This record gives sequence, C-alpha cells and structure tokens, in this order.
Amino acid sequence: MSLITDLQWRHAVKAYDPTKKVSQENIDKIIEAARFAPTSSGLQPFKILVVENQELKDKLAEGALNPDCMRECSHVLVFAAWDRYTAERIDKVYDFTTDERNLPRGRFGSYTDKLKSIYLNEAAENNFAHTARQTYIALGLALAQAAELRVDSTPAEGFDNSVVDNVLQLSEQGLKSVSLMYVGVADPSRDWISTMKKVRVPKEEFVVEYK
Ligand SMILES: Cc1cc2nc3c(=O)[nH]c(=O)nc-3n(C[C@H](O)[C@H](O)[C@H](O)COP(=O)(O)O)c2cc1C
Repeated sequence: MSLITDLQWRHAVKAYDPTKKVSQENIDKIIEAARFAPTSSGLQPFKILVVENQELKDKLAEGALNPDCMRECSHVLVFAAWDRYTAERIDKVYDFTTDERNLPRGRFGSYTDKLKSIYLNEAAENNFAHTARQTYIALGLALAQAAELRVDSTPAEGFDNSVVDNVLQLSEQGLKSVSLMYVGVADPSRDWISTMKKVRVPKEEFVVEYK
C-alpha cells in the first residue's frame, strides 16, 4: 500500500452509521499525525478538540451544514487556532523546545524577537489568518492517516464558527475554530457520494512545468 492508494481510497463521507465507533487507538493515531504536522516557526499555534460526547455533538449540530454527520459520526475533531500571537505564547513554545533539547533558554532569542516584532505589530485578525493556515497542514495529514487506517472521515468548513466557539468555549482558551474533521464509520446506504467516481483536475491542467 502507498500514500497515493490511501488517498484514492478516501472520500469525504456524507453519512455515518451512528451505531458504530472508531477505536480510541485509531483516533490517537489520527491526532498524532496532526501533532507531527510542520508549522511556521514550529509554533504549533492550534489545538485539536476531540468531541465524542453525544450531548455536545447535538449542540454543535445546530450550527453545522452537515448536521447528520455531526450527530452520527463517532468523533468530531475541531481544529482551533490561536486567536492571536502573544509574546507569552511564543516564549512558552521556545522555552519548551530549548528545555527538551537541553539548550539554554533564550538560545533562539534573536529569532523569537524577530517573530514578535512582526506578529505583535499586526492586527489580531492577521495573526489568526496565519495561525488558521497552519491547521490545514495538520488536517491534511490527519485525513491521510485516517485513510491509511481505512477509517472514514470528512473535512468540513461548513459550520457556524460562532456556535462551535460558544459551545466549546474557545475564546476563553484563546482559540477560534477553523475546520472540523468528522471521523466515523460510513453508512453505505446513505453515503450517496461513495459510489461516484473520484474526480480530480487532470495532471496536465493541475501542473505547470518549467523544464
Ligand atoms: C477545507 C475543506 C472543507 C470542506 N468542507 C466540507 C463541508 O463542509 N461539507 C462537506 O460535505 N464536505 C466538505 N469538504 C469536502 C470536499 O467537498 C471534498 O473533499 C471534495 O469535494 C473532494 O472530494 P473527496 O474528498 O471525496 O475526494 C471540505 C473539504 C476541505 C478540504
């Protein structure tokens, strides 16, 4: 099996079987793939909130474009990015990194000073546009890991961010929701897209080559 085979296997599931759960072991592997995503300056400026609780999923469904997916999937992964950069957040990451590497704190001080001089002079929404972009790499890796495990999933931006942010009290955590990943076991009788051909723009159109 190869990554390409895994990616060809997966599709964005439209309906899940509410009676079936994904194992904690597989959920852990999917999250681990996201945790190992590269991020700009290694800041990992986001968290993943894992919602398995049915009551919470029902509340989140009120703001979802695919409410059935939200209610009936096994787990919802919420990718939520820092609402802004702060000196404390940047220092916390770099202090942890230097500690883990047995380096003196401040070893990367000139670099973090540079980051702060850029980010802290920008509006919070510009910061968030940057932190939110980082989450998509993690989402992509999580989708690929799920596919490798033959676990069904759906990436989703179709939801009301204010509902998700309120239900999960994200602003209190300095976070804002960016995207979701529904994870579960597809219901083939209702997952209408599963029998359709996977369509992608042909390679000749997708690639611009300069040889
Ligand atoms: C960032 C992102 C957001 C998406 N949002 C939704 C969504 O809200 N609802 C949905 O049914 N599919 C959503 N999709 C799935 C895409 O429609 C789907 O990936 C695309 O049509 C290609 O189909 P495939 O993933 O089955 O190969 C989203 C995909 C991505 C990458």
